[in-house]
Amino acid sequence: MTDLDRKQDRAPVPKDWTYAPAPESRDIVRLRERYGHFIGGEWIEPAETYQTISPATEESLALIGEGTEEEVDAAIAAARDAFANGWSALPGSERAKYLFRIARILQERSREFAVLESLNGGKPIKESRDVDLPLAAAHFFYYAGWADKLEYAFPNRRPKPVGVAGQIIPWNFPLLMLAWKIAPALACGNTVVLKPAETTPLTALLFCDVLRQAELPPGVVNIVTGDGRTGAAIVDHPGVDKIAFTGSTEVGKAIQRRLAGTGKKLTLELGGKAANIVFDDCALDQAVEGIVNGIYFNQGHVCCAGSRLFAQESIYEPLVDKLKRRLETLRVGDPLDKNTDVGAINSKMQLERIVELVEAGKDEGAEIYQPPCRLPEKGYWFVPTVFTNVAQSYRIAQEEIFGPVLSVLTFRTPEEAVEKANNTPYGLSAGVWTEKGSRILWMAQRLRAGVVWANTFNRFDPTSPFGGYKESGFGREGGLHGLEPYLRFDE
Ligand code: NAI
Ligand code: MG
Repeated sequence: MTDLDRKQDRAPVPKDWTYAPAPESRDIVRLRERYGHFIGGEWIEPAETYQTISPATEESLALIGEGTEEEVDAAIAAARDAFANGWSALPGSERAKYLFRIARILQERSREFAVLESLNGGKPIKESRDVDLPLAAAHFFYYAGWADKLEYAFPNRRPKPVGVAGQIIPWNFPLLMLAWKIAPALACGNTVVLKPAETTPLTALLFCDVLRQAELPPGVVNIVTGDGRTGAAIVDHPGVDKIAFTGSTEVGKAIQRRLAGTGKKLTLELGGKAANIVFDDCALDQAVEGIVNGIYFNQGHVCCAGSRLFAQESIYEPLVDKLKRRLETLRVGDPLDKNTDVGAINSKMQLERIVELVEAGKDEGAEIYQPPCRLPEKGYWFVPTVFTNVAQSYRIAQEEIFGPVLSVLTFRTPEEAVEKANNTPYGLSAGVWTEKGSRILWMAQRLRAGVVWANTFNRFDPTSPFGGYKESGFGREGGLHGLEPYLRFDE
């Protein structure tokens, strides 16, 4: 037993509380050997391909098209054609029917999608099943509801679709990010060329099946797979009217530079380094759950992850003790096991980035804690990690790690908490844990973050706008606000 265990007057938790394996079956997923691009409602044989793998086993899953400029050009032409010849003139109530259908089909096929998402991306099945899939469907339902009410959303402003939207998404929530992008675009009468991230193309490709099932007119949604070069070809193409990008701040900045002066509309949802601020009057056990959810959910591959914990000095010790104890109960391993809490790191590249930053944390003098944990031999894994003794200037307090790594800092007064929390180039989200409603409001007014969660974290709803300040980007997704980037209001 650890010291901590002995301090409690409750029955100690046994260390080896093991769970029997509870693997979700893969049989529901039918993979093809190779996938083309989905252009104009047809599968187009790609000129070049690459392998997509399972990050938990490194096994190859399928061959994927590496989109060329010509292929991007064909997709944009198909989107342009669909926009001009039907889709944009369709009454909103008709567009809504397609969105409702897509939402229903996603619900019906949610197990298949959840298994594929976990297989290709490494996230625990319980998250893809209980978070990614329900939320993706909810986004289509929600924006279906707006499709015939745009004039009421923007009274007297005569909203019109923008045209062809180029959408580039990351690998941390592949299907959910697709839903965030496609649902509002279609609701507003636009057509779409979407590029999934190179490591996680499979659910976007399965989604093309859903589009066919829903009988969406050809060319309204086109999916081109590939890496950054394919993304750049979409950004640079003169036939797109709007770019929506979610990904790294570095690429976001490059896209902004390239679009300057072109007249194309742009929204950027970039990185974050969120502060999760815990006051001494909070419900401590609840806060510990929120901290764990904030940084270990989806292996910390979350732009709004609560990666900087600010603990009020007066509760620093009990909080960190409880947190370490809780970490020991996290189950790391097979993403398809229903008991898994922390799955595989999405890619070798991302694992290398996490390792590099963790090494920097140790070198700079922070104290590392990792619970005892046996990792699978194959695949990409990282033990849930907590750093204490972290100074504001350390790289682990400044840079987005995008992994299961928490940096703990301290504060004494609310003013100091705000000052430290805002001392970052980012501003996507923040969390506040306190019993006092007035303090929540006081903090929320002062935190420079797009979303401030109070006594909870990582809570999403399609009705609520999401987006950043400063280097976390601009524009909002979700809610009524999420319609605006897909509309123009001239004349
Ligand atoms: P990334 O920004 O390179 O990739 C995101 C998407 O952009 C992918 O679809 C990629 O193919 C595409 N892309 C890459 N270069 C492009 C270009 N020049 N033009 C157009 N599209 C391009 O992110 P990456 O390299 O996967 O991850 C690096 C770091 O970025 C992570 O460690 C993390 O810190 C951060 N990140 C943040 C995300 C967020 O949700 N805010 C999502 C993914 C990564
Ligand atoms: Mg990159």
